[in-house]
Amino acid sequence: MEKVSWKDEYSVGVAKIDRQHRHLFEIINKLIDHSGTSKDSELVSETLTEMLNYAKEHFTTEEELMQEYGYPEIGSHKEQHIYFFKTTAELSVNALNKQSMVASEIVEFLKMWLTLHILKCDMKYKEFFKAKIPAGV
Ligand SMILES: [Fe+2]
Ligand SMILES: [Fe+2]
Repeated sequence: MEKVSWKDEYSVGVAKIDRQHRHLFEIINKLIDHSGTSKDSELVSETLTEMLNYAKEHFTTEEELMQEYGYPEIGSHKEQHIYFFKTTAELSVNALNKQSMVASEIVEFLKMWLTLHILKCDMKYKEFFKAKIPAGV
């Protein structure tokens, strides 16, 4: 399965958030590495847990910044995060039951959702934060 690679167009202009997005991509790639055979199912479940934990940490970072600076679209953005978290958790349960076939389905979902979310939703706050958060933070 093709791995996800970082592109400059994914940058939202806030260094901490870009670092977290890159790390989310790394976790997806780790999952791709582990999703081949059923004997790897323990590694798959560990990596899915890592994804859920790190996604939660990342969403909290974004939402706290939105709260702090009064980002107007925080409500709908939070809903997107909740949707991702719930769906990933549900798919993870299926993946643990059915192993590698579902692991590839979940990888497709993670790749698609994260790249689209960064490009369509996170990108909307790029201009908003640009004026408020100093570069390099
Ligand atoms: Fe994000
Ligand atoms: Fe987001």
